[in-house]
Amino acid sequence: MALLPINLRDLNGYSVKSDNINGTLCLRYVARHYMVFGLTAFVVFMLLLGKLSFHEVIVEVPLAEQARPESSRWSGLRLPPLYSQYHEHELSLPQHRWHAAWHEGEPKFLFIPGHSRGSGWGNIWQEILLNAYLSYKLNRAFVFYNYTWNDDASQDYSDYGGKPIPSRVPLSALIAGPMVGGAFPGTDHHASLSIAEQYYHTVCDGRKRVLDREEVHKDLGSWMVDSITEGWVRKLRTVDDQCVEVENSQGPIYNWVTFGDKSAMRAAWADFAASPVVSTFRWSPLVELAFDNNREVVAPTTISEPPLSALPYDTPNAGRYPAIPGLLVLHLRRGDYAGHCEHLAEWSSTFLAFNQLPGLEDFTPPSGSAPWGENTPENTALYRRRCLPTIPEVVARVREVQQAHAARGLENVYIMTNGALSWVEKLKVALTDMGGFKHVASSRDTVLNWEQKYVAQAMDMLVGQRAQVFIGNGWSSLTGGIVVMRHANGFHADTTRFF
Ligand SMILES: *[C@@H]1O[C@H](CO)[C@@H](O)[C@H](O)[C@H]1NC(C)=O
Repeated sequence: MALLPINLRDLNGYSVKSDNINGTLCLRYVARHYMVFGLTAFVVFMLLLGKLSFHEVIVEVPLAEQARPESSRWSGLRLPPLYSQYHEHELSLPQHRWHAAWHEGEPKFLFIPGHSRGSGWGNIWQEILLNAYLSYKLNRAFVFYNYTWNDDASQDYSDYGGKPIPSRVPLSALIAGPMVGGAFPGTDHHASLSIAEQYYHTVCDGRKRVLDREEVHKDLGSWMVDSITEGWVRKLRTVDDQCVEVENSQGPIYNWVTFGDKSAMRAAWADFAASPVVSTFRWSPLVELAFDNNREVVAPTTISEPPLSALPYDTPNAGRYPAIPGLLVLHLRRGDYAGHCEHLAEWSSTFLAFNQLPGLEDFTPPSGSAPWGENTPENTALYRRRCLPTIPEVVARVREVQQAHAARGLENVYIMTNGALSWVEKLKVALTDMGGFKHVASSRDTVLNWEQKYVAQAMDMLVGQRAQVFIGNGWSSLTGGIVVMRHANGFHADTTRFF
């Protein structure tokens, strides 16, 4: 029964969310008591409508989430938020001219429909950064898309380890600024403003130029970010169409092969780091507010500092997110990483491209004679130690990193982790027992509202980005997003370390 797509409750009527019910009741009240006023207002409105050209003002917003057949599946559980106000805000960006008769005056667009789906935020995020970077290099508007676990519009929720999570999160619930359609601050007025995917479909369906990824990639001879980017820049020189997309079935432009190669970012780094994709980057107001609310949890302040959410829109990335003196952040991936770390050892994996930027400490997979797809016991142990360290190993690594000049004055520790509460509490005790720290907290100690709960990884990234010293996991893309922002914002290489 549980697998059947619909149930009786749905046939009887929509099981609308409570705020929709309140909305309906409210409407009834208004209708009953203000019928006359309402009618008058309606007539005046219709008269005005006749006089005004309304075309550029009306925004087509999809009907708010209605009852889904899936609702019975999660019965008894509080359902995650769907962020509909963020979707609506994205659609109402001023550069979207929904009802314009022609769109010739608008920028040229680049859409990558085969972008990754169904992965954690770190994986998705590294690809979004490069897709936005490529669009910028091509002087085309970046077509931004949902952070998607599942495209199926009939499924608002996806199963994540038995718990419901939103199938799609609008990108603007996670980040803000030019990547999600905001103005380019400063001198970049010529850059094309990003547009939402839905708008792209409205403008471009029926007149898209679809490009073949393989045709561009077959002659590159490399999967490095600079080669791929240059290959597409060369290709797009010969393409004038306003609406350009990459063949959907061919997947992402930058894929796991690139992200998994430790050298892939090196040649592109300087250009990428200086591009507005990075220099104007900022987290969403939702995420910044989560940070502001948890500022004292992360590291107690002595003098109050202005909240992030009070800073002006055009404060650049580096100025917005400076180091918090005295803060040490550790990123410890647990859970699924137990198996993942073994797999990394079997394939002698290097650190990810985003974790091996020029100047950062290097990890070279140890050599040893083992058959293809296996590794020696010593090497496997080394991967386990660096990928899934025990509590004494974490303490030892913290001691080691503390020797660096750049690590002087550390007094607060924040542990970013998906680890079990009991493990995290033991680690906190061990770090406190080291003697030098005044305050030790973890992701588990933060206080988040319901909408923030499902974008909590982004708040953790913001914290990691601002640490005086950060120690991450070189195989983690969540670490990678932090490392990229720290390195681009001029943090000393000695302050960005790995277990
Ligand atoms: C993004 O997600 C929202 C909410 O599920 C959905 O209404 C919208 O159609 C999605 N956008 C695209 C372009 O699929």
